[in-house]
Amino acid sequence: MTKTWLITGTSTGFGKSLATFLAQKDDVNLVATARHTDQLGYLDQYDHGQILKATLDVTNRDEIAAVVKATTDKFHGIDVLINNAGLGYFGTFEESDRDAVRYMFDVNVWGLIDMTRAVLPTMRAQKRGIVVNFSSIAGLASFPTLSFYNSSKYAVEGVTEAAAQEVAGLGIKFMLIEPSGFRTDWAGRSSQKTMPKLADYQQFASRIEGSEEGAHHEAGDPDKAAAIIYDQVTNHAADLPLRLPLGQWSTDTAIDKYTKTLANFKALHDLSASADQPEK
Ligand SMILES: NC(=O)c1ccc[n+]([C@@H]2O[C@H](COP(=O)([O-])OP(=O)(O)OC[C@H]3O[C@@H](n4cnc5c(N)ncnc54)[C@H](OP(=O)(O)O)[C@@H]3O)[C@@H](O)[C@H]2O)c1
Repeated sequence: MTKTWLITGTSTGFGKSLATFLAQKDDVNLVATARHTDQLGYLDQYDHGQILKATLDVTNRDEIAAVVKATTDKFHGIDVLINNAGLGYFGTFEESDRDAVRYMFDVNVWGLIDMTRAVLPTMRAQKRGIVVNFSSIAGLASFPTLSFYNSSKYAVEGVTEAAAQEVAGLGIKFMLIEPSGFRTDWAGRSSQKTMPKLADYQQFASRIEGSEEGAHHEAGDPDKAAAIIYDQVTNHAADLPLRLPLGQWSTDTAIDKYTKTLANFKALHDLSASADQPEK
């Protein structure tokens, strides 16, 4: 059965890899969105009427509504929404720029929320649908100079985990993608950087500088990620994982974080439970 996939942020990176991969599949109608659709010319060679390009800034709710309408008008439904569009921000917690951080939350958190809430009525009416939300290993574990990026992705994890429970009985599933470093524009042009000025934080300057140099030299291959995501959604929908770490460093870091967190909770179990009122 042909499925209609709607993806945000397909100009570069994961979004471009996903759009390129899906454009070549016989069982896909593709809605590729970007802030500037003139960046989507790479899709033209695959287009035989199954591709819709649409302008979409995820912070613009009028554009979100227009894209959802254009998709359902052309393809009569939405089977898979991929909330991929996202930004980074590097800076210490104390010195990060408040306005830039708020804008990152508008894109990473509110953009994803507004997109999902605009698509859910269609999915509820169909009684089926999958929402794939790009989180990060930074949505599971926290790192110096990424406190606000961490918190935006933790927010993505939180809303997704709760919403998934609300729609589980309606035929709708969610999947969180948690990549480690992948070769995209994220650490370069898509991440604002605030270098530490205070002497107390100078030790973190090289970490921020290194992020710029690391862009496009990371271990992760976004084309492989696209193939894995397609396979999960298409061939494993019945037992879709809520969380999918991608990349060796992501899965190792997630296991290490949760192993230590589990040990923490177990060690404190009796003390934690002792805070309740005694049962009457
Ligand atoms: N690469 C990694 O190492 C990594 C690791 C973990 C998670 N992620 C996540 O992966 C997702 C995709 O990022 P990427 O790595 O592929 O980086 P990327 O190459 O920089 O792509 C980011 C995409 O988001 C789009 N975007 C930014 N702001 C937008 C807005 N307001 N409305 C619509 N689109 C917007 C960009 O469009 P423009 O071209 O218009 O700027 C671009 O298409 C993000 O959510 C990111 O947090 C990346």
